[in-house]
Amino acid sequence: MKDLLKAARTAQKRAYAPYSKFKVGAALRTAEGAIYAGCNVENAAYPQGWCAETSAIAALIGDGKKKIAEILVIGPGPKMITPCGGCRQKLAEFAGGSTPVHLCGAKGLIKTVTLGELLPLAFDF
Ligand code: THU
Repeated sequence: MKDLLKAARTAQKRAYAPYSKFKVGAALRTAEGAIYAGCNVENAAYPQGWCAETSAIAALIGDGKKKIAEILVIGPGPKMITPCGGCRQKLAEFAGGSTPVHLCGAKGLIKTVTLGELLPLAFDF
């Protein structure tokens, strides 16, 4: 968990969030133990921005990996942040219902849930 948190914090500092001023970091651990992190990247045309979780997934897939064993997200405020609905579905593509998701606020871990709790009945076919 500590190494995931560190990777997510490093990515969070690099977030490009001039519009919301809400910097987010995400880190994913693979079944083999590798860590991939990402940050949110906003755009002047607002809907074109994307979330930290999406960036982390892109890093994972770009490095040829597919299986997520553990997920951590960190926001800038005192409250824990939770992945948005779209990112829950994106994470479900590469993680299972029992995959732990560590939800963090600026000071660190607040709660750990499973992806299945965040997205019951995830779409699949
Ligand atoms: N954001 C994330 O990066 N991940 C989340 O799980 C929730 C929201 C970003 C999107 C946008 O850049 C900013 O936070 C404010 O919504």
